[in-house]
Amino acid sequence: MHLAHVTLDPAAVVAPVSRRTFGTFVEHMGRCVYTGLYEPGHPSADEDGFRSDVLALTRELGVTVVRYPGGNFVSGYRWEDGIGPREQRPRRRDLAWRGIETNEVGIDEFARWAAKADIEIMYALNLGTRGVQEALDVHEYLNQPAGTHLADLRRTNGAEKPYGVRMWCLGNELDGPWQLGYTSADAYGQLAAATARALRAAEPGLELIVCGSSSSAMPTFGAWEATVLEHTYDLVDYVSCHAYYEEHDGDLGSFLACAADMDHFIDSVVATADSIGARLRSKKKIQLSFDEWNVWYLSRFQNQPPTDGWQVAPRVIEDEYNVADAVVVGNLLISLLRHSDRVTAACQAQLVNVIAPIRTEPRGPAWRQTTFHPFARTAALARGDVLRTVVDSPSYQTARYGEAAVLDAVATHDPATGDVAIFVVNRDDTRPVQLTIDLTRFGLTVRSAEASTLSDDDIRATNTADQQDRIILRPNRQLTPNTSGAQIVLPPVSWTAVRLSTQPRPVG
Ligand code: AHR
Repeated sequence: MHLAHVTLDPAAVVAPVSRRTFGTFVEHMGRCVYTGLYEPGHPSADEDGFRSDVLALTRELGVTVVRYPGGNFVSGYRWEDGIGPREQRPRRRDLAWRGIETNEVGIDEFARWAAKADIEIMYALNLGTRGVQEALDVHEYLNQPAGTHLADLRRTNGAEKPYGVRMWCLGNELDGPWQLGYTSADAYGQLAAATARALRAAEPGLELIVCGSSSSAMPTFGAWEATVLEHTYDLVDYVSCHAYYEEHDGDLGSFLACAADMDHFIDSVVATADSIGARLRSKKKIQLSFDEWNVWYLSRFQNQPPTDGWQVAPRVIEDEYNVADAVVVGNLLISLLRHSDRVTAACQAQLVNVIAPIRTEPRGPAWRQTTFHPFARTAALARGDVLRTVVDSPSYQTARYGEAAVLDAVATHDPATGDVAIFVVNRDDTRPVQLTIDLTRFGLTVRSAEASTLSDDDIRATNTADQQDRIILRPNRQLTPNTSGAQIVLPPVSWTAVRLSTQPRPVG
């Protein structure tokens, strides 16, 4: 058994928990929208054709913000195709994923869905095949109250009130050769700056997200961010980050440690952004919007999307996640929370069917993938402030990321309730960890404690339509609270959430 310690101090606050850390992503891709969110005729479909089983799971997941409508899809999308009478909407080719987009769902339908799910919309603009004018048009349609052509068109289409979308992505992954409109950092930086100026003229208080690199492995990583921010520093609020991880060639040890790579990625983008800020003598700090992150078995993607014809809602990258994948997802959330001073928005990509925590079958069930559980529990328990979490853990060697800690953790503390939540992974695939959680510096006693763990003897086990709850969170009975914290045993390859409720120490 390994031994590890986590020491917490209520005064060592990183930042308040940003609720926008628990974002998601809905792209018109594969079956995310069609037969995912939306399936008129499904037994659970509501009056708008949305699957209420998926809506219920979305609420349970606890997501707060949703990036829409893409992704690579958005770089060829004409937003106006998706408004007005359905029977008049055009069918179009989607060149990003080689599907047919029917436009049955557009922004008005999606905004209705988001309102039902109580989720804020982060709207991604097409700066691939379009530009400033279309950005202004979609903004007028979504946010202008009334009395102009596009605002009144929205009202005619049934939405009397403006949607009040605050967060706007200035395009998607324009550093990537696969992207429609792929361009240089300089050209994109100029376009993003012009678009940002125009949007700010329309509505000064918007929160604007400029595209960072599509991954830290891009040859232009770093230089791209620097050039783009030189053009846009004073005009935008966020730079985006995207990262997907998978297990390569059976190298489980590296895969389980990939949150260390996310840590490094975030630190690198922060350093790059701050260096531009310093050069500009600016006091402003650019935030990070980690608006695509997840486990994605990209190497299995070779023969997709289908090249043998154009289909509506083809099955694309419907990865089935196992226990190890869920542990990694939980660890990536630990990394995001740890950086809450700079990462103040994040979107797990995607929500339904496409590399998603929720799976559906057409006319059939909806169920939770393994990765659903760490997300939902973290979103539910992370409250108040993120604490600097001092971890003392043994380490191990990984092929990809060098030396990595066996145990990784982050904690939050809600001063209003006295609750402390600790999210923790054991990355060892054979040995448990006995963890001591030290709250001595709180000067409080632990009133009650609970912990739940995701693990299994078979780390390749998954949830399927037939066995939907093969992997769930189970109470961890090896939790022993004491006056100044707790001890807990964490099984190999596991993710755990511990909640400790504290109260003042009795006097005398
Ligand atoms: O989420 C899937 C795809 O990954 C998105 O469309 C794109 O932005 C990224 O490369």
